[in-house]
Amino acid sequence: MSKRRIFVTSALPYANGAIHLGHMVEYIQTDIWVRFQQMRGNECHYVCADDSHGTPIMIRAEKEGITPQELIDKTKKEHQRDFQGFLVNHHKYHSTHSAENKELTSDIYLKLKSSGFIKEETISQSFDPEKQMFLPDRFVKGECPKCHAKDQYGDNCENCGTTYSPTDLINPYSVLTGATPIKKESLHYFFDLPKFETELKNWLKSANIQDTMRNKLQEWFIAGLQAWDISRDAPYWGFEIPEAENKYFYVWLDAPIGYFAAFKNLCVERNIDFEEFIKPDTQTELYHFIGKDIAYFHMLFWPAVLKGANIRQPTGVFCHGFLTVNGEKMSKSRGTFIKAETYLKHLRPEYLRYYFASKLSAKVEDIDLNLEDFRQKVNSDLVGKLVNLASRCAPFLTRLAGNKLSSELSDRSLFDLFAEKSEIIADYYEKREYSFAIKEIMNLADKANEYIDAEKPWVLAKEENKAEEVQKIATIGLNAFRQLIIYLKPILPQIAKDSEEYLKCGELSWEDVKKPFIDKELGIFKALLQRVEEKQIAAIISDSKEDLSKENNIGKKTDKKKTADSVENNTPSEIAIDDFAKLDIRIAEVLECEKVEGSDKLLKFKLNVGELGEKQVFSGIAKYHQPEELLGKLVVYLANLKPRKMRFGISEGMILSASNEENLQVLLASGRAKAGMRIS
Ligand code: MSP
Ligand code: ZN
Repeated sequence: MSKRRIFVTSALPYANGAIHLGHMVEYIQTDIWVRFQQMRGNECHYVCADDSHGTPIMIRAEKEGITPQELIDKTKKEHQRDFQGFLVNHHKYHSTHSAENKELTSDIYLKLKSSGFIKEETISQSFDPEKQMFLPDRFVKGECPKCHAKDQYGDNCENCGTTYSPTDLINPYSVLTGATPIKKESLHYFFDLPKFETELKNWLKSANIQDTMRNKLQEWFIAGLQAWDISRDAPYWGFEIPEAENKYFYVWLDAPIGYFAAFKNLCVERNIDFEEFIKPDTQTELYHFIGKDIAYFHMLFWPAVLKGANIRQPTGVFCHGFLTVNGEKMSKSRGTFIKAETYLKHLRPEYLRYYFASKLSAKVEDIDLNLEDFRQKVNSDLVGKLVNLASRCAPFLTRLAGNKLSSELSDRSLFDLFAEKSEIIADYYEKREYSFAIKEIMNLADKANEYIDAEKPWVLAKEENKAEEVQKIATIGLNAFRQLIIYLKPILPQIAKDSEEYLKCGELSWEDVKKPFIDKELGIFKALLQRVEEKQIAAIISDSKEDLSKENNIGKKTDKKKTADSVENNTPSEIAIDDFAKLDIRIAEVLECEKVEGSDKLLKFKLNVGELGEKQVFSGIAKYHQPEELLGKLVVYLANLKPRKMRFGISEGMILSASNEENLQVLLASGRAKAGMRIS
């Protein structure tokens, strides 16, 4: 196949918050893909930038007593430090507050305008009478007009996914001052999205997009496209709209254009023709990696804006799900809202890169970072299978063979088996099915270790005149190790680099997997990776809780939209009786209760729930209750919680308990309560 020219982006993180492990799902996913493309010999350019505009940044700077410029400069440094820490290699890390972006955004806007795709309309908007400013969507909260969920932001409902405008909210309030916003009129500029329906449908036919997203887009088309408000009134931190007075581009217009601004900057650096890249009929591929929450912007607005400005559209948009930690939304109070920086203080980046890869697929599914599973998996796979393979071979060569590999592979079967998998594994990477790639690779690692187990070089090494034989076995083992490193190099760049140094083999490419590695003198072998210890994970959790207390002091949150707000908030939000009626809570009798081998947190229950029959539940309460205490007791049980597949089996429903920071007690029923009774 001929060499492809590929441009790749990850979504631009907001410049008003720290990078956390949720973000890292995306940057790691993208970085792996880019490194893979490069190993395959493709020309692949990867850019990102800080999303530096918008009211939240303005407000945050104000709170910290610095200028927005100072805030975005500071944050950009922190973000870049975190990405480097995780070995995410952006070829250019730019900012949307850049000269290139200002120019591109104005150009694109003026093209849209002259083609008749910009409409003016005076609209009435939420205005904070205390702060004397128009409130952006996320600074107004209230009740969702569709599903009536409380405390929803003004742009879309996290409960039912509807998008709307803040003035549609029921009982709205300003997040800045708590004041009830008034409605105020102002002239706005709209991008005429409905005009692009046919064009968008055409784009969808050829674009590389997941089926789930295709279906989602169909839903959006059926719901009907609406003109998109791309202007904001002063005070606003952003680019001023040309040929308009005191109006600014809405951050979501200039943000994706920021991708192109970053490319433009890189193109100058790398002497690439940027104009060729943006031509509508270009051969250059363009892929955006994004989270599912920003699909609307990337699959409707963005391709339509590009079409309207006669610029090339994305070749594909790859959407991933959200990260949960230990099966739940990241939470500051549980210490699972883990910042990139906090993680890196305690652990090497490769563990997480590997773990995420082992969970990532091309699906738009959420992925869970179960910290115990994480520790066990990286210890067993990376240390136990991969690194160990090298440690089991290297010392023999140093001791018995002058640190040299044999001049041939005395048995090629293992080598050939590994080499044959090259295209299958490559295909998995290409399609972002990393978890399948890892399964294949770890199968091979098992085979290599079985080979060493069977040959027992440590026994032979003690016998007379067996040095050559031991050398042959170690050579075969290290060839397998080298092939595994090649396959894992996109995921484990630093371990690959250290291995390349040890093997003195230069930069490994994908094709090298087919070339036997023989007759060479090796470098000095050093342990490539240590095991993850329980105490390191405990330290991450406890530091993340500390982060919280620090942050609370200055009264700010980093990632408002993605944390479990209700957990943090001490005042419970109101619900209607219908909401309560959705919960099917029952009395259940504990028929069996036992500890779960391999977990110090879980207890496994068999419950009798009367007419609902017997249910199996896993509950993370082993620290607080001995199994005997609960046997035969009547517990309170949430019956209609969606069953959850856990490592140890399916958990159906949930046992309710009362808890505070220090203690937990399962709720028990007594008196006339009987298994199966409904709680109302
Ligand atoms: N600034 C916008 C993107 C503009 S792109 C032109 C934005 N920023 S963000 O900081 O909120 O998110 C950046 C990326 O990280 C998004 O793709 C988002 O989906 C992803 N994630 C943020 N939190 C996440 C999780 N908890 N889990 C997985 N991905 C997450 O949106
Ligand atoms: Zn809703």
